[in-house]
Amino acid sequence: MKNNTKVKTIFVCNECGNESPKWVGKCPACGAWNSLFEQRLEVDSKFKDTGVAKNNALTLSEIKLVDDNRFTSGIGELDRVLGGGIVSGSLVLVGGDPGIGKSTLLLQMCQTVAGEKVTADAGEADGGVKSEDKSSAKGGAKNGTKNGAKILYASGEESQKQIKIRADRLGISNPNLFLISENNIDTIFDVVREMSPKILIIDSVQTVYCPEITSAPGSISQVREVTMQLMKLAKDTGICIFLVGHVTKEGAIAGPRVLEHMVDCVLYFEGERHQFHRILRAVKNRFGSTNEIGVFEMRDKGLEEVLNPSEMLLSGRPENTAGSCVLCSMEGSRPLLAEVQALITNSSFNVPRRQASGVDYNRISMLMAVLEKRVGLNLSGSDAYVNVIGGLKLDEPAVDLAVALAIASSFRNIPLGKDVMAIGEVGLTGEVRAVSFIEKRVAEAGKLGFKTCVIPKGSLDEVPKGVNVLEVRTVREAMGII
Ligand code: TYD
Ligand code: MG
Repeated sequence: MKNNTKVKTIFVCNECGNESPKWVGKCPACGAWNSLFEQRLEVDSKFKDTGVAKNNALTLSEIKLVDDNRFTSGIGELDRVLGGGIVSGSLVLVGGDPGIGKSTLLLQMCQTVAGEKVTADAGEADGGVKSEDKSSAKGGAKNGTKNGAKILYASGEESQKQIKIRADRLGISNPNLFLISENNIDTIFDVVREMSPKILIIDSVQTVYCPEITSAPGSISQVREVTMQLMKLAKDTGICIFLVGHVTKEGAIAGPRVLEHMVDCVLYFEGERHQFHRILRAVKNRFGSTNEIGVFEMRDKGLEEVLNPSEMLLSGRPENTAGSCVLCSMEGSRPLLAEVQALITNSSFNVPRRQASGVDYNRISMLMAVLEKRVGLNLSGSDAYVNVIGGLKLDEPAVDLAVALAIASSFRNIPLGKDVMAIGEVGLTGEVRAVSFIEKRVAEAGKLGFKTCVIPKGSLDEVPKGVNVLEVRTVREAMGII
């Protein structure tokens, strides 16, 4: 095996990931000093080859797909984000701020994943390792019970005891879950070889290192090498690997962003640490659609799925207050009701303050200009604050109309009705343009008791029962409801 392994060294910048064939003191790409570290391009293959000859090109019809290589994680929201379940042999990166709940989510998955589909092919996953004497492996890896696929949770951050305490708190008692506390990727690979798990969780990529590389764990060269080896492992053996990656604002640790192009799926876990709910978002998925989101709530006993996120996002909404409007945004295939709030006050500054969170700042400026010119609201001397409740980020133009209504409502100090939902893109001439999935959006609004839907003229063919639709051509027309 070693004979055909070529070893080549390159130098990778720790700051920006730029590659250079020779060591230089200053990175030619980003200008950082002393940031280049040696990296071996080709490392000995630790697992058998895929068996496909190098030049064996196949036509599409010749490639045989293994049936049903997807299985459920047991957590509906996670399955949805993954595109309908976990795919065998895939490498999934779960990114997010430290403390957001990545370890918690994956540990909870360890309990639920032992569903029937996983159990069915657990025998194969054993890989023939049956004898008990092999179970004296490092990290205590041994065969699990007959039912259920084995899961290996390798933590470089917490000790086995710490994970146990957390698992107890979460009520996890899966006999097929094995924990090791290890930073060396070679040792983790040894354990994997020993026990052939169905799922491998690495927590986190920044704490695991490859001993062949001299730079520190967490550096770009290390995380890239570790990820490359894990990718090969996943493809060669069919193990599904979840890789946790922390994102830091300072960029002190190499963020998982460098890894995005290497892995199959990238999920981001978002939310405010001090708020309860968390949103799991797919930003890349080789096996399904992106833009799907999963909504969770962080409780004392771990993460709970939120089956009706619209209801959660709207809870605590003030009644009869000016400056609030409900809209329906599409997150992947799912309509999500959210509240946008605006506060317009007289400015005490020469240049009025404008602040936007959850919506694009430039879009707010544009909408305020449209309201000023096309509706005649004198907003130029006012401070404006616009906020989407629940830390949600809305980036589709379809939310324009609701934002404009919230701004106008605050400016005029007249509340919108409490059962009003507005949706539509606003153009520069003040026209309200049609948006996609209007039926789904109106239906979701109707389901949650929003009886008046302000929508673009002529965009909806069939009005659902119990919903009163107000079709508008321009923002000016929409202002009629205030
Ligand atoms: P964790 O999963 O350790 O975050 P990450 O792996 O992304 O760094 O989550 C830690 C946070 O979650 C911590 O602030 C405490 C909180 N938490 C709960 O509120 N309830 C729980 O049951 C658990 C296990 C954690
Ligand atoms: Mg963690």
